[in-house]
This record gives sequence, C-alpha cells and structure tokens, in this order.
Amino acid sequence: MSSAAVLCGVGAYLPPRLVTNDDLALRMDTSDEWIRSRTGIGRRHFADPGTATSDLAVEAGARALKSAGRDGADAVVVATMTPDHPCPATAPTVASRLGLTGATAFDVSAVCSGFVYALATAAGLIATGVARSVLVIGAEVNSTVLNPDDRSTSVIFGDGAGAVLLRAGTDDEYGALGPFDLGSDGTGAEHIMIAAGGSRGRGSGAEPAPGDQYMAMHGQEVFRHAVLRMSASARHVLAQAGWGVPDLDRVVSHQANQRIINQLADDLGLPRDRAVGNIARVGNTGAASIPIALADACSRGELNEGDRVLLTAFGGGLTWGSTLLRWPRVDGV
Ligand code: UT7
Repeated sequence: MSSAAVLCGVGAYLPPRLVTNDDLALRMDTSDEWIRSRTGIGRRHFADPGTATSDLAVEAGARALKSAGRDGADAVVVATMTPDHPCPATAPTVASRLGLTGATAFDVSAVCSGFVYALATAAGLIATGVARSVLVIGAEVNSTVLNPDDRSTSVIFGDGAGAVLLRAGTDDEYGALGPFDLGSDGTGAEHIMIAAGGSRGRGSGAEPAPGDQYMAMHGQEVFRHAVLRMSASARHVLAQAGWGVPDLDRVVSHQANQRIINQLADDLGLPRDRAVGNIARVGNTGAASIPIALADACSRGELNEGDRVLLTAFGGGLTWGSTLLRWPRVDGV
C-alpha cells in the first residue's frame, strides 16, 4: 500500500533588512499610496548583497525540522527561480549544510507555483518508497533579478524562504496532502521571463541585451491568468476531494498581489477573510510565498487543527497548481 505525504512541520526565514514602499519611492517613480492600493504590499525583506538562496533555504529548513521535532529527512526538494547557480541544483548544498549529505536532493523549477509542484513531487517520493520524509523548501533571493529601472516588478517582489516537513503516513490523518492538480501553458512563457543565462541566449552566440539578466513581466496578462487558473485548479481539487467551496476554512494562495487574492476569493464565492496571508509584510516571495504564509498564519493562530485548507499557486511558465489538507497539530517556527 502506498503512503500518503503528511505535513508535520513548518518554518520560515526572512532576511533582516526591511525595505518599505517609501524606501523604494526614494529611488524610483512610485509611491506608498500606489503600491498599497494596487498590490496591498507595505514592505518586503531584501537579502544583503552576497546572500544566496541556499543561505535562506537552510534557515527555513532548519526551522521546519525543529517544528516537527526532527533532526533530519530522507530527501530535500528546493523550489526556486533564483538558484545559487544555473548548475548544480541548490538542494544538495542545502541538504549538506543541514547535515543531510547522502539525502535525495534536487530543485523544482516552476517559478511561483514551484512550492505546490515540489509538494506533489515530494508526495511521489513518499508514495514510491524512495523517502519516508521529505523537507520541501521554497526559497528566493528575488532582489537579485529585479531590474532597478522596472517599477512594476521592483515594487512587488521580496526575498525569503519557507519550508515544510512531510512524513509518510495515511490519507485519513490531519496533514495528509491531496488530491493535487498541476498544469501549465507554455504559450505564455514570455509573460514572466529572465531572458539571459540559459541555453537560448547563450546558444545564439550574441551578447545578452542590457537588462536581459533581470525578470521581465507582463503584469496585467499575468494578473488575468492568475485568477482564472487558480480558481479553476482549486475547483478541480475540491471536486476530486468531494469538498464544496463552503467547506473551506482557509485558503493560502500564492501571495502575488492582494487584489489577485481578493478576486480569487470572490470568483470562488468564498468570504475574503478565509484567505489568509502576509503579503502586506513580505511582498511576493515567489516559490517561498506559500510556506512563509503557512508558518506566519500558524504562529498567529490563523490555522487551527482540523481546518480544511486549500493551497493554490500560479506563476511563470505559465504554471499553476493546487492541493488540499486538513491542518495538523503543528507549531510554526
Ligand atoms: O508572482 C508571479 C505572478 N505575478 C503576478 O501575479 C503579478 C500580477 N500583476 C500585478 O500584480 C499587477 O499587474 C502589477 C502590480 C504588476 C501592476 O499593477 P497594475 O494595476 O496592473 O498596473 P498597470 O501595469 O496597469 O499600470 C497602471 C498605471 C500605469 O500608468 P498609466 O499608463 O496608466 O499612466 C503604470 O505606468 O500605473 C503605472 N505604474 C506605476 N505607478 C506607480 C506601474 N507600476 C507603478 C508603480 N508605481 N510601481
């Protein structure tokens, strides 16, 4: 009989440097009023120069292990769009720095949907018996890919890492993940893209154009797709589970823009106050946003044992994904 993946620990780490909207307004044509009203973001954390994604991931991973009362895992999966290097993956470094040399370790690249993709991948490792426990980490140093001349991306993204520990268990336990829905539409690949640094650019033999090392985003297109895709994906897993929308106690969606979070709730017909999150305090932390929001909601008492919770994400690719769980007894660290 295959095992279910059961969430048993959650933790997060934010680099200490706070950047307010007013700080950004000092160096680009924007304002606290515009950012708050168009995104719901009040501030974000930026890593100090020299800090890499693995540095944040190790801190968050250690906290998730502590939350679970464990000192190791059989596998480490890191979801990120800002890996330490194009090669090798970031996860083996993270595993070794956590004292887990020898563990299965690899990255998942699905941009802001990466954490949900990584959860499904980790559930597969458990179901196939490859691992009995998996540390799933979302981590980003987005500040390294923000174009200082692009105010649409610079004001929404932030840095951070969040992690959960999954263990083998049974699907009737609180914390058991599933069903999952994952999808993609590569015809929208150009809507969120870092053009330089990959084989497409290098293979052309041409020097990267100025700015190609930064993330470019078609904000309005992404916004429209985000609401539609997360809503459809959420309905899909709810139907598979036999849950109705009113059954949901909490929705923890990718924290991209408060208006997207609100529209998703409206589209689903769910009261907005069931959507928990912390975008006002951390901005959009990419693949890290859902686990950071989980740790935050957990420590603020906004997730209680037995709550029916929807996790749903959307990001570059385009990609999207959702899953469900009954919230287990766990302390966020
Ligand atoms: O995490 C992965 C997925 N990413 C997302 O889900 C992000 C989705 N998109 C968004 O969140 C929003 O599209 C943005 C926050 C990026 C932009 O907000 P918007 O409401 O779609 O703004 P817009 O691009 O339609 O621009 C409206 C106006 C424009 O001025 P004009 O042409 O109307 O005069 C922009 O130039 O706002 C201007 N603008 C700004 N003004 C002040 C754009 N960015 C800024 C800014 N500060 N930072």
